[in-house]
Amino acid sequence: MAQRYINDVLAKPDAALEMTLRPVLFSEFTGQKKVKERLEIAVQAARQRGEALDHILLSGPPGLGKTTLAYIISKAMDSNIKCVSGPTIEKAGDLAGLLTNLEERDVLFIDEIHRLQKTIEEYLYPAMEDFKLDIIIDQGPNARSVRLNLPRFTLIGATTRSGLLTAPLLSRFGMKERLDYYNAAELQKIVIRSARILGVPIDDEGAMEIARRSRGTPRIANNLLRRVRDYAQVKADGKITVQIAKLALEMLEIDENGLDEMDKRILETIVLKFGGGPVGINSLAVAVGEEPDTIEEVYEPYLIMEGYINRTQQGRVATELCRKWLKAFDEQGNLF
Ligand SMILES: Nc1ncnc2c1ncn2[C@@H]1O[C@H](COP(=O)(O)OP(=O)(O)OP(=O)(O)O)[C@@H](O)[C@H]1O
Ligand SMILES: [Mg+2]
Repeated sequence: MAQRYINDVLAKPDAALEMTLRPVLFSEFTGQKKVKERLEIAVQAARQRGEALDHILLSGPPGLGKTTLAYIISKAMDSNIKCVSGPTIEKAGDLAGLLTNLEERDVLFIDEIHRLQKTIEEYLYPAMEDFKLDIIIDQGPNARSVRLNLPRFTLIGATTRSGLLTAPLLSRFGMKERLDYYNAAELQKIVIRSARILGVPIDDEGAMEIARRSRGTPRIANNLLRRVRDYAQVKADGKITVQIAKLALEMLEIDENGLDEMDKRILETIVLKFGGGPVGINSLAVAVGEEPDTIEEVYEPYLIMEGYINRTQQGRVATELCRKWLKAFDEQGNLF
């Protein structure tokens, strides 16, 4: 049966919307209490000393606020931020261009840093450590190495797959912070804040209904809010109540537990193909057609947190909750 899944329909970021809803200050950033506290202290200390902030690695599943935090940090440092995506830096010259245009204490944000080319990564080591860049200019007999002095900048790297980062790169980050899924109460706060910015009337229960189905992810919560807003506007008086939220989410075929297509495939595979487990990560990965470390870093944490699977010495095991979910899913005729 054709089912519309959260990740297909909704998880694609809408750039303009993300910009308006993105918190700009630490005080507006909900949740991730410990991470936020450590970052705020580091920022304050660096500011007091008038120094650049240490290099920071932010990791965690998509849509949890890595990019948002990078902007917040740079604003709190009163510095400029330059953003690039790892795979778009193709030549050493591109990196040199980026680095030499920075000012003291500026932030260079490299998104998807795990997809940086190996050669570029090697240029980064001395840049991060000693603020020096050795580049080769000219070719053939005229080729020579030139050492450039760089301003003291802060590299903020973001990755959904920290397991793919090499040890030398990892070791050059002074701070490594992993973002975790948000609980329903935190997401409810985020939904209420976003609704205020969008000018949508919403009550606490309506916001909670959206929060519960957002897979612990602010980006999904914001996207669902926008969809429910459309429904409320067309089918009711514009206000998002729990009834309206339920009807809208039902119409959109959003899973009640916030699971997305790959979550479902993983659970179904463990139960039906592997008899509930234990199953090793590699066999599971092959069976669902995904990379083992994407499963480990992007999907599994949510499924474990929500109690659908357990990780044991022998492998992944389906829980009672998982079996119940599968049964209900099957009864609705939704099995793959
Ligand atoms: N703690 C938060 N409080 C309020 N809103 C948040 C929070 N974290 C994220 N958001 C919202 O979710 C959206 C997605 O966050 P962001 O782009 O920072 O995620 P990301 O971790 O960089 O994701 P990706 O891995 O896909 O790049 C933001 O536009 C912002 O509106
Ligand atoms: Mg991002």
